[in-house]
Amino acid sequence: MVDLTRESFVASCLYFSHVNTHQEETALNWKQTFVDVKRQYEYCYKRLMDATTISQLESKLWIVDELIKLDIRPKRVALIGGWFANFIVQLLIDKLDVEFVHNFEIDEDARNISYKYNKRYKELGKYQCSIKDVMIKTVEGDYDIVINTSCEHMFPMTGFYEQSPKIDAVYVLQSTDDEQYVDHINCVGSPEELAEQAHIIDILYSGTKVLNNGMNRFMVIGYPA
Ligand SMILES: C[S@@+](CC[C@H](N)C(=O)[O-])C[C@H]1O[C@@H](n2cnc3c(N)ncnc32)[C@H](O)[C@@H]1O
Repeated sequence: MVDLTRESFVASCLYFSHVNTHQEETALNWKQTFVDVKRQYEYCYKRLMDATTISQLESKLWIVDELIKLDIRPKRVALIGGWFANFIVQLLIDKLDVEFVHNFEIDEDARNISYKYNKRYKELGKYQCSIKDVMIKTVEGDYDIVINTSCEHMFPMTGFYEQSPKIDAVYVLQSTDDEQYVDHINCVGSPEELAEQAHIIDILYSGTKVLNNGMNRFMVIGYPA
């Protein structure tokens, strides 16, 4: 029995209107994720619902839309703090022909649950999640894009560049000025402040979106100094 909040049900339906391939298999993976998390990770269930909202979907679709407009077609994506990676992985694979997404997370529950959502892509070798604090350990490997939609949750990106200086990629960063959550430890006031904090000097895109839940979301795409 699947027990979703109204918001998560609507967000899931909207998501499936954007998924172009393997809808049935993905739907079954998602259904099983909801069932398994309720049984095995009850303490994560509210977070799962928080990650499955219209606002979460909007912010991930925004990335894909802007990359398409910029004609940026990455093959290998490093995802920083990608959480359950529920929306982003298949959107990148379906809409941008991305070949591999590597999520770097500090939370083992997030990794295990992300593998349930993305069962198909894990089995195909297109999705992997590694446990790593990217602010204190090096990210190895070649990636042509680094996506961090969790900037408000961690130290400024300069800490990442120091740990992983060999990564030569375009960066997609999102943050917010919404300070009401205790784990929002690094909010910024604008996309300009996000770019300045992350030392993004070659700015390809900079913008603000007011999400469905009223949150201001900032996004910067570009290359660091
Ligand atoms: C709440 S979630 C993501 C929320 C974000 N607004 C989004 O839409 O994607 C933040 C994630 O960042 C991860 N995280 C925080 N600091 C990290 C770090 N230094 N390295 C890797 N992951 C990190 C957390 O474990 C968590 O899963």
